[in-house]
Amino acid sequence: MPKDKPRIQSINDEFQRRAAQLRIAPGPSGDDVPQWTTDGIEELPGFFNSTADIWDQKFGAAPDDPFYQAVALQIPQTDEPIDILDLGCGTGIQLEFVFARAPNAKVTAIDRAPNMLEQLGVKFANKAEQLRLKQGSLLELSFGNNAYDYAISTLTMHHFVPERKIAIYKKARKALRTTGIYIEGDQVATVEEEKNILYWYNRWIVKLPGGDRAEWNYDITLSPETQTHILQEAGFSEVQLTWQSPSKGAVYVAKY
Ligand SMILES: C[S@@+](CC[C@H](N)C(=O)[O-])C[C@H]1O[C@@H](n2cnc3c(N)ncnc32)[C@H](O)[C@@H]1O
Repeated sequence: MPKDKPRIQSINDEFQRRAAQLRIAPGPSGDDVPQWTTDGIEELPGFFNSTADIWDQKFGAAPDDPFYQAVALQIPQTDEPIDILDLGCGTGIQLEFVFARAPNAKVTAIDRAPNMLEQLGVKFANKAEQLRLKQGSLLELSFGNNAYDYAISTLTMHHFVPERKIAIYKKARKALRTTGIYIEGDQVATVEEEKNILYWYNRWIVKLPGGDRAEWNYDITLSPETQTHILQEAGFSEVQLTWQSPSKGAVYVAKY
């Protein structure tokens, strides 16, 4: 839509301006360095904290967005106060779609960036009594035991290397009731792309301070094959790829 262009342009500029002010780890050098790494990489917590107030202007989704809908559609339309755990909730873009299906859901929303949680709290001020906001890293927090009907995670898990993901999935599974379901929407890579992503992760990111603990804004996007395998490794009984679009991502559903 051309009439939106100037606004989007300025949000992109503002994003870049804020990212440039963060601590940047320089990219590797050498002939085989991919072009996208040459500007280096920003620290992750600072990136999300400093962009939270303009996040929805850049990434907000229309109500018919097929990706967010594909995640939410795994939750039945209900007025029951079902229990949902949201891992890496951000400003709650995915929750908008979840509340459209389950308006009385009780949601525990976890994020490491306090400013993201603050935006979410403002957005859903009318649901304050249904929301429990928890600030901290998915790597460190406990998610509880046998307490949720659904655990969801959208566009967050690509920050973690497979071994770390498995540890998070085990905690998510433990937090679910035995009838519970884990739903994940995330970016998707081909097997070839994944190889290259993991190669540069192992050659570069893991050697940075906190590199294996999601301290840097490096996307570890996996193929459906690997993603399915690691959900199974974490103990989920049935794992299904329910939706996929090469440009936008994939949605996985895993039963307790
Ligand atoms: C791209 S946003 C996605 C937000 C939301 N799920 C959505 O779809 O709108 C990723 C979120 O993951 C959070 N995050 C990244 N690493 C995290 C960690 N180690 N622990 C908890 N949250 C983390 C970020 O702060 C950010 O809010």
